[in-house]
Amino acid sequence: MEAVILAGGSGTRLKPFTKIINKHLLPVGSNPMVYWPIKKLVQAGINEILIVTNQEDIESFRKLLGSGEELGVQLSYTIQEQKGRGIADALNCAKDFVGEKFVVLLGDNLFDDDLSPFIKDFKKGNDKAKVLLKEVSDPKRYGIAIIDENNHTIKSIIEKPINPDSRYCVTGIYFYDRHVFQLIDSLHPSNRGEFEITDLNNLYIQRNELNYNILKGWWLDAGTHDALFQANKHFFEGE
Ligand code: G1P
Repeated sequence: MEAVILAGGSGTRLKPFTKIINKHLLPVGSNPMVYWPIKKLVQAGINEILIVTNQEDIESFRKLLGSGEELGVQLSYTIQEQKGRGIADALNCAKDFVGEKFVVLLGDNLFDDDLSPFIKDFKKGNDKAKVLLKEVSDPKRYGIAIIDENNHTIKSIIEKPINPDSRYCVTGIYFYDRHVFQLIDSLHPSNRGEFEITDLNNLYIQRNELNYNILKGWWLDAGTHDALFQANKHFFEGE
């Protein structure tokens, strides 16, 4: 199974650093941020990885990671033509790279759980799509899943709700089948002009095809100064 790491975007909440450096290349512990998702994939036995990033940053990624040999992976790179078009648009750039089923990581999502069991299940099972959830204390910042625990289903996902009805954040760890590209084609840009990953996941929900699991361990979206500090603390303490 292949993996896609989405490492583009503007990193607005990490300015001024992101005026000159891609968010995913900022230091976290003793590594650039993007090393951590790659290491999680290696741990889960995935070594074919596509990095999707911006035109202006691709050379920095190539310089840093090259073929991926040093980290024990085979890396490919591609560019999201237009910045600010959203996560689903970035994912669409992986169409020619992936096979029947694949995993997608947002490159700023850092976590402790081993992905192996989720990947194994998704590969073998009949699920068409799966998201990993994490209970958070600040649900307004994320895509939030309303779940029916008895039936083990997600009823809906709301992107950055003003009055959240749940504390289950949809983390940036997604599993899809190839049908995802057809669904992306049917998306319309949101009010902020982005092709939203939440709209895409809601299409799977409408089809009763979105499964979920809950992360047990530490998880963080390192997209703000405060979160980046917390991430550094976590990895330095861990090391
Ligand atoms: C994105 C997604 C959101 C998700 C989050 C996880 O938000 O839109 O649904 O919960 O990643 O990190 P962003 O960080 O781009 O605002």
